[in-house]
Amino acid sequence: MGIDTTVFAGRPTKWDGLLDWLQMLSGAALILFIWAHMLLVASVIIGPGVMNAIAGFFEATGLAQVGGPLIFLLFLGHFLLAARKVPFRFDRQKTFWSHATMLHHQDTWLWLVQVVTAMLLLLMGTIHMWVVLTDLPITAAKSAEVLQKRSGWLLFYLLFGPLVHVHLGIGLYRIGVKWGFVGQEGRARFKRFVTILVLVCVGLSLLTLLRFSFLAI
Ligand code: HEM
Repeated sequence: MGIDTTVFAGRPTKWDGLLDWLQMLSGAALILFIWAHMLLVASVIIGPGVMNAIAGFFEATGLAQVGGPLIFLLFLGHFLLAARKVPFRFDRQKTFWSHATMLHHQDTWLWLVQVVTAMLLLLMGTIHMWVVLTDLPITAAKSAEVLQKRSGWLLFYLLFGPLVHVHLGIGLYRIGVKWGFVGQEGRARFKRFVTILVLVCVGLSLLTLLRFSFLAI
């Protein structure tokens, strides 16, 4: 599918297969984490008491204090594994561009979107996790206060949420196609399914931000 990444990464060695597996597994684990995280944070839509109870459980059991840094390591590890394929040098970027414009394949452009969103997410995800994990406990009122009173944070999340879900959707699509879970004939249907899923997730993310914005503090 898409481009021949050996142009950027050299001849494949026996390690490449293993590293590809680890990249896929770390990505899949992050997808599951983000879906769970999205539902937990969205529980504020039902009521701040529900979100506080869930956050309280995670802190009382030490899951936030220990799990949070572990998620950060997974996030960093996934980036480093995926960065093997990214054309950081200008001559390689030119090669990518000439291949992409020659191939005229949507999946090649999706890969480019994946690379650009990855860079932004590395920065935004690091800031987000640092801010949340260095200011425990998590409460709905504190999250609402950040969004309502500290300028720039609402804008930050309005960009961060859609970027996360677009990156996650393209990642899911690529896992399905690259690892053979989705055949050639099912590809268009799977792409439609993933597009709808991304739209639903972005919708839920916006609804969550709207709820925080109007929460009495
Ligand atoms: C390390 C564990 C994490 C914890 C404890 C955590 C916790 C939270 C909390 C409490 C909020 C509510 C807003 C706030 O208080 O700032 C939030 C929102 C959000 N988080 Fe995280 N987060 C974690 C990791 C991540 C990661 C890895 C991502 C994506 C790369 C992410 C993406 C988001 C997004 C997009 C929102 C905005 C609300 C939404 O769109 O659903 N978080 N998170």
